[in-house]
Amino acid sequence: MSKNSFLNIFKAILFKIPGLHKSLKNLKKAVGDAALKTRFINFKRDIVEDWKYINWDRKGVDYWKLSSELIFYYHKLEKGLCLPPENRRWFGLQPAEKTLELLNEWDKFNLPKTAPVYQAACGVLSAYCQFTKNISSNDPSAKLIVTKLERYLQQVSFDSRFITPILPDITPDSSFDILQQLSQSRRSTRNFSNKVVDLELISKAVHVAQLSPSACNRQPWKLHIYDKREDIDNMLALQNGNRGFGHKVPLLGVMCCDLGSFFDSTERYEPHLDGGLFLMTFILALQSQGIASCCLNWCVNPDRDIAAHRVGNIASNERILTFLAIGYSEEATLVPLSARRPLTDVLIKH
Ligand SMILES: Cc1cc2nc3c(=O)[nH]c(=O)nc-3n(C[C@H](O)[C@H](O)[C@H](O)COP(=O)(O)O)c2cc1C
Repeated sequence: MSKNSFLNIFKAILFKIPGLHKSLKNLKKAVGDAALKTRFINFKRDIVEDWKYINWDRKGVDYWKLSSELIFYYHKLEKGLCLPPENRRWFGLQPAEKTLELLNEWDKFNLPKTAPVYQAACGVLSAYCQFTKNISSNDPSAKLIVTKLERYLQQVSFDSRFITPILPDITPDSSFDILQQLSQSRRSTRNFSNKVVDLELISKAVHVAQLSPSACNRQPWKLHIYDKREDIDNMLALQNGNRGFGHKVPLLGVMCCDLGSFFDSTERYEPHLDGGLFLMTFILALQSQGIASCCLNWCVNPDRDIAAHRVGNIASNERILTFLAIGYSEEATLVPLSARRPLTDVLIKH
């Protein structure tokens, strides 16, 4: 029997199975479906990136992952010291031991003891020892851990700027009005003047944006700034929302988060959340200095994303969240009204 007639008989038998013909047809259609392809290639990339970068496995010295893990553990102690007085009991043996272990790793790799993350860790451990001694727990582990921590802390001098916990600054009464005015005057600008933006003002805005909250204070942010025309043009050629004004963008920001700040895939959305919080503060800090901006979406397939990492010299473990056009508005620039939805669409009171 020829190969073809064998196949025909095989098909005829298969298609006698109820529903199979239709299912195969649907499957064939779905495979050719562009939306399905897009979904598949993007999810596949997410899984690969997640696998490669969202973890705290360290081979040798890795400042970023080590500092992220260190913050993660000492933050547990730091926040525990600030709970309501009725919940103040002895706590934190495991995170204290882990913090100490990570500080030893820090020393093993000769990382600088002047680094804020290291200094802050020591500040927290010192406060934790004081707290444990004050609470006079009967648990023998309490005494033991204090001895271990104090032995380590003896050989460290840490700056008084890292003493914790603290009383928060007072919020001035005028804050709401100022925030409202700032938010109202901030508009996405799509017509920039050629006035040069002093990079010192960008640094000042980043400094304020660093005060944004982030999951366990790990601060996964990386903001890339490009000020050379060629670099800006090359990057904007990869983005699809700057047509008609991209050539006038004097400064380009690319907001990223380092995926190595996160321990496993339950945290896979944190980069977006932490990055978004940083970006909003940054944009307002720019606005408060008279500098306009426009977010530029980064809704692209993996090939484009890989190209932007290459063109922008961005490490592959950094997730690009969005581009940001930055500059001074041209005089009398118009902006869309961009009317907002009613409050009832947004605020759901339970
Ligand atoms: C994540 C994000 C992506 C955006 N992408 C673009 C873009 O590609 N091109 C553009 O012209 N505007 C873009 N925008 C600006 C929005 O269109 C704008 O924020 C919105 O219409 C509200 O207007 P307003 O910013 O002036 O208040 C983006 C905004 C955000 C937050």
